Amino acid sequence: VTGDFAAGDLCLLADARGRHYLIDLRPGASFQYHAGTLAHDEVIGNPPGTVHRSSRGSRLVSVRPRLVDYVLEMPRGAQVVYPKDLGAIVHWADVAPGHRVAEAGTGSGALTLALLRAVGPTGSVLSVERRPDHLAHASSVIGRFLGGLPSNLRLAEGEIEEVLSGEVVDRVILDLPEPWSVVATAAGALAPGGILAAYLPTVPQVMHLHDELRRSRRFVDMETMEILIRNWRLDGRSVRPESQMVGHTGFLTFARVTAAEMTPDADDPAAGAGPSEE
Ligand SMILES: C[S@@+](CC[C@H](N)C(=O)[O-])C[C@H]1O[C@@H](n2cnc3c(N)ncnc32)[C@H](O)[C@@H]1O
Repeated sequence: VTGDFAAGDLCLLADARGRHYLIDLRPGASFQYHAGTLAHDEVIGNPPGTVHRSSRGSRLVSVRPRLVDYVLEMPRGAQVVYPKDLGAIVHWADVAPGHRVAEAGTGSGALTLALLRAVGPTGSVLSVERRPDHLAHASSVIGRFLGGLPSNLRLAEGEIEEVLSGEVVDRVILDLPEPWSVVATAAGALAPGGILAAYLPTVPQVMHLHDELRRSRRFVDMETMEILIRNWRLDGRSVRPESQMVGHTGFLTFARVTAAEMTPDADDPAAGAGPSEE
């Protein structure tokens, strides 16, 4: 969304101390906080970046929330993919404009929003969720950020293993506890060369997924990583890392699907030999 703020838009108000407040602009409504009130009508019709004064004289700047702001501020049902991981998932799974992406579970819809952005209007996202309450919550979260549900998003209630069979997609992105149970279906649904990504909190889950990917003989280029972001504090001459950071969220695993089974060739001299560790 660009241009001046209009009624119904999402707006992020920031004060001089960096505190943020997410509001939905409604004519006649008023934002209240510890430093007074601000009429929404003072924001509506003005461009983002405008500096306002609260009823008690405090400055507030109105901007459009970034997707990462929204993910941190939005009401959550299921645990969301944390912003530091959203970008990595989109880039390492190489989700690009025009792609057909299948995702599960929808959860709170944070990853769905990132995927919709990456595929653009020429791509599509099929998001599957087994819990109707989570699906309803995600639907309102996504609609609130985008000003309605886009026509290239299909929200489906059910088990990903069932919904995915019969589909043809370019990417399968899994944020659920047992992604290994989806590997065979994903191998059938992914176009050759397509990519599977999974987000998992614990090492045993990552090991189980790798075992299943290897057993299927349909995946290559398996990679697992974690993303650590250390913010810095810049305060005069005190320039140093913040003392607190987001430690662990989840491990990211990626693998590429092949058109046929890949087994080591019997006449391959390297067959059976793992990488040397010197
Ligand atoms: C951690 S949440 C997903 C959060 C989401 N990625 C986000 O960023 O908001 C996991 C979700 O997967 C759903 N789920 C678990 N197994 C599933 C399956 N086999 N098929 C569909 N949904 C599933 C759960 O109900 C839950 O809502």
